[in-house]
Amino acid sequence: MISDETIERVREAADIVQIIGEHVNLKRSGADFRGPCPFHQGTHRNFSVSPKKGIYYCFVCHEGGDVFTFLQKRLGMEWPAAVRHVAERVGIEVRETETRTQDKDAREPFWELNAAAAAFFRDMLWDETIGKPARDYLALRRVSREIADRFGLGFAPRDLDAMREHLNALGYDDNRLAEAGLLVTREETNEQRPRFRNRLIFPIHDASGHHVGFGGRLLGPGEPKYLNSADSPIFSKSRVLYGLNWAKHSIRREDRVVLVEGYFDAVRLWSAGLDPVVAPLGTALTEQQAALLGRYTRTAFLLYDSDRAGLKATFRAGDELLRHGFAVQVVTLPDGEDPDSFVDSKGGDALREQLERSVDVFERKVQLLERAGWFADLSRKRRALDRLLPTIRATVDALTRDLYLSRASEAAGVAKDLLAREVDAVAGGVSGRTRYTGPSPRPEDREPPPSVEEPGRTRTRDRRTQERRKRGRGESAERELVRVMVHERGQVDALAERVDPADFQNAELREIFQTLVRLGDEASIEDLSSALSPAAVEEVQALLEEPDALVDMRRTIDDSLMMLRKREMKARMVEITRMLPLANGEEKDELIREKIRLQREMQTFGGTDLSHSGKTRS
Ligand code: GTP
Ligand code: MN
Repeated sequence: MISDETIERVREAADIVQIIGEHVNLKRSGADFRGPCPFHQGTHRNFSVSPKKGIYYCFVCHEGGDVFTFLQKRLGMEWPAAVRHVAERVGIEVRETETRTQDKDAREPFWELNAAAAAFFRDMLWDETIGKPARDYLALRRVSREIADRFGLGFAPRDLDAMREHLNALGYDDNRLAEAGLLVTREETNEQRPRFRNRLIFPIHDASGHHVGFGGRLLGPGEPKYLNSADSPIFSKSRVLYGLNWAKHSIRREDRVVLVEGYFDAVRLWSAGLDPVVAPLGTALTEQQAALLGRYTRTAFLLYDSDRAGLKATFRAGDELLRHGFAVQVVTLPDGEDPDSFVDSKGGDALREQLERSVDVFERKVQLLERAGWFADLSRKRRALDRLLPTIRATVDALTRDLYLSRASEAAGVAKDLLAREVDAVAGGVSGRTRYTGPSPRPEDREPPPSVEEPGRTRTRDRRTQERRKRGRGESAERELVRVMVHERGQVDALAERVDPADFQNAELREIFQTLVRLGDEASIEDLSSALSPAAVEEVQALLEEPDALVDMRRTIDDSLMMLRKREMKARMVEITRMLPLANGEEKDELIREKIRLQREMQTFGGTDLSHSGKTRS
C-alpha cells in the first residue's frame, strides 16, 4: 500500500496538463485548458483541465477526477500503478508500506457484521411481542410493512443482551461488536451495552450498498431524538448520504437530486414514487457529500423543512453545492410542513407540483431579502449584500456567477462592476475549499473530517469557556457595568438611562442587565436568579464573588461607559467605510459628515487605545 502522504505529494507535483495533454489535444482557456472529451468522444472543447486545482472535468458527460483517475479510466491502469507511474515522472520514490495479497477490502468484515445486525433489528421489528411498540409507531407515521421492508427498517429493543447473544452465536465476539460501534462501554462501570436501544432503526449504506451504519429514532419523546452510528473506520457521517445506494441510478437518469433533511422525509418520498432523493445524516451538507453527489449530477433541489432552521440549512447547503458547480433550486413548502408531512397529507403529485415551482437558490435569497425590505435603505442594503456576496463567491460556474452578480446589482441598485470587485477581493480564500482531493483508497487513514456543527444540539460548556477566554475589552466593560449593578442596586436606574440593551454583545450580560432594569432596584438576588436562564445565573454568581471592582465605583462606571461608546463608534466607522461605495451623492455627503464627527469625538477620547488610560469622560 502507498501512504496517503506520498499520494498527496505525487498529486501536488504532477503536471496534469502535460500528462492529460499526451492523450487529449488541450488548448489554454483562461486559467484552465480545454479539449475534446476523450470519455464520450466529444468533438467540442467541453473537457476542461484545471492545473490549479489538479482536476479534469467534462461538462457534457460529467466525467471528472484527478491525474490518477484519468490514468485509471483512460488507460485502464490500476490505482497503485497509476500512482507509481506519475511518481516516476516527477521523481518521487514510492515505497510500499504493506502489500495486499488480494483485493479484499479490510472493511468487509464490518460490513458483514452490520448486515447481520440489520437482519437482527428487522427480526425484532416483526417479532410478535418485542416489535409491537415499534410497529405501532410505524403505523402512527403511516409507514406500511411493504415500505419498511423495502428500506430494511428494524427495531433495536431495550433489552441489554439479545443483540449481543444473537451476534455472538454467529461468531462475532464482543470486541468486534464494540469496534463496529454496536456496543458501547459505559465509563463508570466498564459495562458494555448496545448503542441503540428502544429505537426504530434505519440501516445506512454507502453508495455501493455496503452496510456502513445505522440511524435510530426514539419511539417516544426523549433526547437525542435521532442517534447515528459513531464515526469509525467504516462510518463517517459527513461522507455518507442516506439513500444514495437506492437513489443513484435515478439521480443519473433524471440528472437531478432532491435533498431532504431526514430519514422519514426520504422514505416518504421514495414511497410516493419520487426516486432521486437523499438525506444528509442530521448535519449540514458537507463538502464531501457535495463532492460525492457531484459524481452523479450537477442539479440539486433542496427540499427542507419550512421552518427557520430549514431555511438556514437550505442556504448553507446551497453554498456548498454552488462551490461544486451545481445548479441549485429551492423548493418551498407551506408553513409548518416538512416533506414527510406534506406528502402524507397532500400526496406525491402535490409535491411534484411544488418541485415544478422551485426557484433558483440565489433568486430565493434575493426574494426573501426584498420582501423583508432589506434593500430599502443604505445600511440595510449593505447588510443584505453581505448576505448575498458569499453565495456569489461560492458559485464556481462562471455563467451562473455572472447572472447572480446582475441580479444582486439590480436588486440593490448598485453598479455590477462594484459588486464584482467586492466579490473578487476575497476570492482567494475560496479556492482552498473547492480543491478536489481525489479518490481515497483508504479513507480510514485520512485525517478526520472537519467537524460539522449540529445546530442547537451541542452547545457545550467547553464552548462557553472558550468564548469567555476570547472576551475582548468591550465585553469586560459590559461585565464591569453589570457587576456594579449586581452589587449596588442603587446604580440600576442611573445606568439604565445611560446604557442601551443593544450595547451588550454578550447575551448573558444583556439578559442580566435587562432583567435588573425590569425588576428595579428593590429586587433581591433571589428574584433576579429566578428570572434568569441557567447560564445567566451562573454569571451572576461569578459576579457576586468578585466585589473588588467597587473600590472606585465612579471610575469603573465612567471607564466602562467610555469603552462601550468607543466600541460603538469604531463599529460605526467600519460600517460607514463599507457603505460609502454604495452611497449616492446626498447619502455620501451625509456619511462623510458623520465620519468627521466621529473622528472628532474619538480624538477627544485621546489615542485609540484605552487600556492603560486613566482618563474619564468629564
Ligand atoms: P421526526 O419526523 O420527528 O421523526 O423527525 P424528522 O425526520 O422530521 O426530523 P427533524 O426535522 O427533526 O430532523 C431532520 C433530521 O435531522 C433527522 O432525520 C435526523 O437525521 C436529524 N436529527 C434530528 N434530531 C436529531 C438529534 O437529536 N440527533 C441527531 N444526531 N440527529 C438528529
Ligand atoms: Mn423534519
